[in-house]
Amino acid sequence: MATTTTPVRPLLFSDTSVGTMRANVFVAPNRIEVREVPRPRAGAGEAVIRVTLTTICGTDIHIVRGEYPVRSGLVIGHEAVGVIAELGAGVTGYEIGDRVIVGAITPCGQCHGCLSGHQSQCGHGTGFEAAGGWRFGNTIDGAQAEYLRVPYAQANLAKIPGDLRDEQVVLLADIASTGFSGAESGGVKLGDSVVVFGQGPIGLCATIGARLMGAARVIGVDPDPHRRDIAKRMGADIVLDPSTMEIAAEVKLITGGGADVAIEALGTQATFEAGLRSLRPGGTLSSLGVYSGKLGVPYDAFAAGLGDLRIVTTLCPGGKERMHRLMELVRHGRIDLTPLLTHRYPLERIGEAYELFGEHRDGVLKVAITF
Ligand SMILES: NC(=O)c1ccc[n+]([C@@H]2O[C@H](COP(=O)([O-])OP(=O)(O)OC[C@H]3O[C@@H](n4cnc5c(N)ncnc54)[C@H](O)[C@@H]3O)[C@@H](O)[C@H]2O)c1
Ligand SMILES: [Zn+2]
Ligand SMILES: [Zn+2]
Repeated sequence: MATTTTPVRPLLFSDTSVGTMRANVFVAPNRIEVREVPRPRAGAGEAVIRVTLTTICGTDIHIVRGEYPVRSGLVIGHEAVGVIAELGAGVTGYEIGDRVIVGAITPCGQCHGCLSGHQSQCGHGTGFEAAGGWRFGNTIDGAQAEYLRVPYAQANLAKIPGDLRDEQVVLLADIASTGFSGAESGGVKLGDSVVVFGQGPIGLCATIGARLMGAARVIGVDPDPHRRDIAKRMGADIVLDPSTMEIAAEVKLITGGGADVAIEALGTQATFEAGLRSLRPGGTLSSLGVYSGKLGVPYDAFAAGLGDLRIVTTLCPGGKERMHRLMELVRHGRIDLTPLLTHRYPLERIGEAYELFGEHRDGVLKVAITF
C-alpha cells in the first residue's frame, strides 16, 4: 500500500528555496505598483513573516506624494500582522507558524538610544539616530507585501494571543501606539482637561489614549463633521469645528483658563500654535504631527518663555513589549479599534485603497489590506 509522508518542517529554518512575492513598490512620486519582487530571506537575528493583514498610514501618503523621500524600488508600508515563515540564527523562543504583530518601529534593543529608553531613536547597535527606529518602508523594505523581513527579530516579534483576531490588533502597530503616546508623553493625569487637534486616525487614538490616562474631559477638534462624529463615538466629550470658531478662546472658556494638555495630531503651524494658545500656564503641548518647512513659536503664545510650558514630541513607540501591552488593552476590553477599519482591499487593488484613503473619501479612516 502506498504511504504518503508529510514533510517535516524544521523548527527554526523553513524552506530555503528562493522565490518571489507580490509587493507594493514605490516607483516615483505619485507612482506605486504591485510587482513581483524577490522574497526576503532571514539573516542572523532576523525573521521573515508571511503578512496576513496590513494597512496604509498617513505617512505613506506623504511618501507617495513625494513629500517624504524614499528610494525608488522600495516596498512601502510599516504596519504588519502575520505568521512566522522563517527564523534566522540566534532568534529563540519562537516557532515557524507563530502569529505575530511587528510594530512600525523596530528598535534593536542594544544601542545607546534603546538602552536609554529612547527606542524610537535607535542607532542600530550603536549611538542614537533621529527617528532611526523607523525602518520599514523608509530605509528597508516594508509591510505592504506577502512577506516581510524583520530586523532585530528578538526585540520585535510580539506573539498574538489566540483569542485575538488580526483585525483587532493591526492598528496597534502604529496609529494606536502613536496616538496613545501623545497622551503619555503629555503626562495626562487624573482629572485633566485635554484638547486634541485633528481627529484623523492618530488624533482619534490620542483621544482614546487621553481617556485611558484618566482625563476628565477630552475636547476633539476637526473641521470634518464625519470625523467629529466618530470622535464622539470614540470618547471625546466635546467636539469643536475650527472653521467656525477660534479654538484657543473656546477651550479657555470651556476649561476655565486653559487645557492641562493639548495634543497636536495634524502637523501644521496653525494647529501647533492653537495648541500652545489653548494651554493653561504650566500646561503641556504634546506634538505628534509630522511638519514640513519652518515651524514658529510665537512670543505671546509662549508667555515670553516664562509660562512653565512644556513642548514634547514623540515618534511612535515600537518593540515587542509595547505591542504586548497594547494587546493586553484589547484583550481585556479596554479598547476596541475595529470601528476605525472602515474598508478592505486585496493587495492587488492597493492603488485604489491609496486613492480613497489619501482623499478621505467615503468616510474612510483606515483600510485593511488583505492577502
Ligand atoms: N509621531 C508619529 O510617530 C507619527 C506616526 C504616524 C503619523 N504621524 C503624523 O500624524 C499626523 C496625523 O496623521 P493621520 O493619519 O491621523 O492624518 P489625517 O490627515 O487622517 O488626519 C488629520 C486630521 O486633521 C484634521 N484637520 C485639518 N485641519 C484642521 C484644523 N485646522 N484643526 C484641527 N484639525 C484639522 C483633518 O480633517 C483630519 O481629520 C500626520 O502628520 C502624520 O504624518 C505621526
Ligand atoms: Zn505610520
Ligand atoms: Zn537601538
